[in-house]
Amino acid sequence: MRKILVTGGAGYIGSHTVVELTAAGYTPIIVDNLCNTSTQNIEGIEKIIGNKIKWHNIDCTDKKAMDKVFSEEGTIEGAIHFAAYKAVEESVQNPQKYYDNNMGSLKVLLECMRKNKVKNIIFSSSCTVYGMPDILPVDENAPFKKAESPYGETKQICEGMLKDDTCNSVALRYFNPIGSHSTAFIGDCSADSPSNLVPIITEVANGKREKITVFGDDYNTPDGTCIRDYIHVVDLAKSHVLAMDFLINNPGKHAFNVGTGIGVSVLDAIKAFEKTNNLSINYSIGPRRSGDIEQIYANSSLVKAKLGWEAKESLEQAMKSAWDWEKLK
Ligand code: UD1
Repeated sequence: MRKILVTGGAGYIGSHTVVELTAAGYTPIIVDNLCNTSTQNIEGIEKIIGNKIKWHNIDCTDKKAMDKVFSEEGTIEGAIHFAAYKAVEESVQNPQKYYDNNMGSLKVLLECMRKNKVKNIIFSSSCTVYGMPDILPVDENAPFKKAESPYGETKQICEGMLKDDTCNSVALRYFNPIGSHSTAFIGDCSADSPSNLVPIITEVANGKREKITVFGDDYNTPDGTCIRDYIHVVDLAKSHVLAMDFLINNPGKHAFNVGTGIGVSVLDAIKAFEKTNNLSINYSIGPRRSGDIEQIYANSSLVKAKLGWEAKESLEQAMKSAWDWEKLK
C-alpha cells in the first residue's frame, strides 16, 4: 500500500486528484474538515472508484489531531497539500484568516512529516505568484512580483517555507482550473457564492443569475478582455500523480507550471461555453475588477520535459463538464 496523505482531499482539485491517485495504484488518505466543501465529494469519489475511501474529518492546523493521523496511518509515502483558503477578494477583507490558515496548515503538516520521516510533499501553488509577468508565456524562472492579494502572498510564502524545510517538494503552479469529472459525481462544492468565471457562467446558464459582468474590455488584448490559461481539472489532477512519481525518484526542490499554454479571453471563454452547450449567456461589459492582471498563460515545457505531463482535454470538454456538474450537483 503506497499511502499518500491528501489534505483538502474532499475539495474541488483534491477530490479529482484522489480519483487519479487511486487509478494509479496509490492509496490516498483524505484529511479534510469540509469547511469549504461537502460530503457529496466523498460520496462521489467512492462512486467513481467503486470503493470506500479513508477520510479523517479534522482541521490541518490542529497539531494534535494531525499527529494522531500520522501515528494511526503508519508508513506514509508522501503528502499532497491542498487544504487552504482560496477566495482572493475575501483575503483582502480578512488577511489574517488567510495567513493563519494557509501558512498554519503547512507548518503543522511539515512538522508532522519531519517527526514521522515522511519526505515528499506536493504543494498547491498558483500562477498568481508571478503577478503580471514581463514575458509571456511565463516560465518558472520568472521572478515573484509583489502579490496582488494576501491570498497570493500566502502562496509565495508557502513556497518559501518548502524551500527552507528539509523535505523534498514539488510546487505545482496552477493556472485557472475549470470543469469537472466526466461522471459529474465530483466538482466544486464550495459553500460561498462563486467569484470565478466559469462557475458564474454556469449559474447564468441555469438561471441562478440574470447575467455575468465581464470585468473590463479596455485591456491591451485582441478583444480587450483579460486573458487566462484555463485548464481542465482532470488534467490538473493527473499532474499531481506524475509529480509524486517524479519526486519519489528525484528528491530535491522543484516547481512546475501546470497550464495548457493557451491564452483565452473572457469573451472567448463565454463563446466556448455557448457553442459547446448550445446555450446563450447573457453578459454585459462592466468596469475592471481591482487586482486583476491583464494576461497570463503558461510556458509548460518544463513540466512536459520532467513529468511527461501535458493537457489533453480541450476547452470545449471542460465547458461541457462544467455545465454537466452545474445541472447535477
Ligand atoms: C485568480 C488567481 C488564481 C486563483 C484564483 C482563485 C491570478 C492570475 N489568478 O484567478 O491563482 O487560484 O483567483 O479564485 O491571480 N471574470 C469576469 N467576470 C466575472 C468573473 C471573472 O469577467 O464575474 C474574469 C476576470 O476578470 C478574469 C477571468 O474572468 O479575467 C478569470 O477570473 P477568475 O475565474 O476569478 O480567476 P482569476 O482571477 O484569474
